[in-house]
This record gives sequence, structure tokens and C-alpha cells, in this order.
Amino acid sequence: MAVITGKAPGKIILFGEHAVVYGQPAIAIPVAKVKAAAHVFPDFKSRAGEIHIQALDIGLDTFLSELDPQHPLAAAVNLTLAELQLEHIPAFQVQISSSIPISAGMGSGAAISAAIIRGISAFLGRPLPDSTVSTLTYEVEKIHHGNPSGIDNNVITYNKPVYYQKEQALQFLQIEKETHWVIGDTGEKTPTYETVSDLGKRHAEKPQHYDQIFQTIGGIVQEARGALIKADIKTLGRLLNENQALLCELDLSCASLDRLIQAALDAGAEGAKLSGGGRGGNMIAVASASKMDAVEKALYDAGAVNVISTKLAGVPQS
Ligand code: PMV
Repeated sequence: MAVITGKAPGKIILFGEHAVVYGQPAIAIPVAKVKAAAHVFPDFKSRAGEIHIQALDIGLDTFLSELDPQHPLAAAVNLTLAELQLEHIPAFQVQISSSIPISAGMGSGAAISAAIIRGISAFLGRPLPDSTVSTLTYEVEKIHHGNPSGIDNNVITYNKPVYYQKEQALQFLQIEKETHWVIGDTGEKTPTYETVSDLGKRHAEKPQHYDQIFQTIGGIVQEARGALIKADIKTLGRLLNENQALLCELDLSCASLDRLIQAALDAGAEGAKLSGGGRGGNMIAVASASKMDAVEKALYDAGAVNVISTKLAGVPQS
């Protein structure tokens, strides 16, 4: 039996993080330059049903039966097997690798889960459809994040730009022309569940104040949807800056994010904001193709530990 590989890309949120947890829309795009992979192959040395999991990047090399069922890798495997309900499971090995930066708001956890679910279900002869891959990935996300909005599992599974709102049909965005984006990593890590739960406490104390800010962000996201489809980078830039001002009001930025955002703007980006949980992690800027090199260099000069440029390819609208 050949090696079967399940894959999934990284992602970045362009607009609407945090407000999306409170029912507002948000926009996210896949980042294909970084990806997670799960290679699945038979293990002829083990007994039927034994599953050997290797994730050498994090020093993990063990059997599923030895892992805490709450461990995200174990959860992804167990949820897949529960979904498939097969009578006979051969011994197999899952080798996981990923080039997605960890805890940087690029969806590394969700991409690894989606890759495992795809790899194992295909290896066992019953490849699961994207809708199920997304649902199972969401279940694993709940273990890490408590109350995830659901945007990460969708953008990563479908590998398309998405306009996402809780309890609404998912919309895929078809972009008319190329747009260019630069992602700068501050190297500071604050887990998303921390910023989400801190904002949750403040929201519980002053719901009207925060709901108003979330609604204003929702309005920005709606306008950004049209600007993104038309690849109107002037409007996208203005909206990134407006969204960032509101994220600052929510106390989600920090000195290193502010420094990278300013450096991108000074180097000619049309707009920039933090992306994801905030208080560290990544920022994102939109720029014309001719300004990309200058923005990338300015981010490194301002202390970014990693810079990834990505473009959203133009897709003719159907
Ligand atoms: O840190 P990330 O990129 O996984 O993004 C978190 C986005 C939030 O809106 C803050 C949380 C969520 O579940 O949507």
C-alpha cells in the first residue's frame, strides 16, 4: 500500500477578528506558501488497530493508545475513526510535518487537524468530504480555544478566501484581480484563548459599549468584501487602518505590532492591521506589487522575526 498524504494550507484573517466571535462577519484567506501534511502508511510491525503517531517537529513519537485523548493530535485521529465507524482498522503510522508558524495566528493547529483527517480517511479507503473535514477540525479547535468562531476550520479546509459569519451560509469570495499582502510576525506569542477570554470578561461588564465597536467592525468587513472582490487596494488599505484603530480601542494591539504596522505604512503599504488574536502574533499589510519588496524589508528592519508575502490570485467572476 502506498503512502497517502493529507494536506492543508495556513491562513490569515484580513478583517473582523474578535468581532466574529460575537456574530459579526469576518474575512480570511488561505496562505498556500505554508502548509501542514500528514503522511499515512501501513505499519507492518504492529498489531491491527495500533496507530503510531510521529510529529518530529514537536518531538512526539508514540502510539495513539499512549496519548491523552484530549491531545489535539489524538483527538483528530479519534474523531476521524469515530466518523468512519470501520470494523477493521489495520496498523498504520501517521507522520505529521508543518511549515506553518506555531501560535502565530496562521492556523497551524487547524491545518494539522485537517491534514490528519484527510490523510487517515483516504488511507482507510473512505476519503471524507470537505464539509466533514471542516466540522471535525472545528471539534478539535474547541479543545484548544474553548469558543472558536469557526472561521479557521472553514478557510483552511476549503482553501479559498471566505466571508464567514456564525450561523450563516459560508461565502467564497472570487477576486477579480491580484492583490498583494505582506504578513509580519512580531515573534511575541499570546495564546488566542487568552485575548478572547480577556475581551469576553470586559464585554460582560460593558456589553453595549463593546457591541457597538463590534458592529462598527462588522460594517468595515461588509465594505471590505466588495473592495476585495474588486481588488481595490486603496479602499482595502483605508479599511485595514480603520479596523486596526478599533482593535486598538479594544486594547488588542501592543508595542511590537504598532511598530511593524507603522513600518509597513511608512514603506508605502496602503494599510495595515494586526491579524488574529492580537497582543503579539502577526500583522498584515496590503500594498501595490511595486511596493512589496520595500514593505518586506521595512518589516524585517523594524524587528519582524518572519515575513511572508502572499498574493490573492485573480479569479474571473462566474
Ligand atoms: O489567532 P487566530 O488567527 O487563530 O485568530 C483568532 C481569531 C479570533 O477571532 C480572535 C478568534 C476566533 O475564534 O475567531
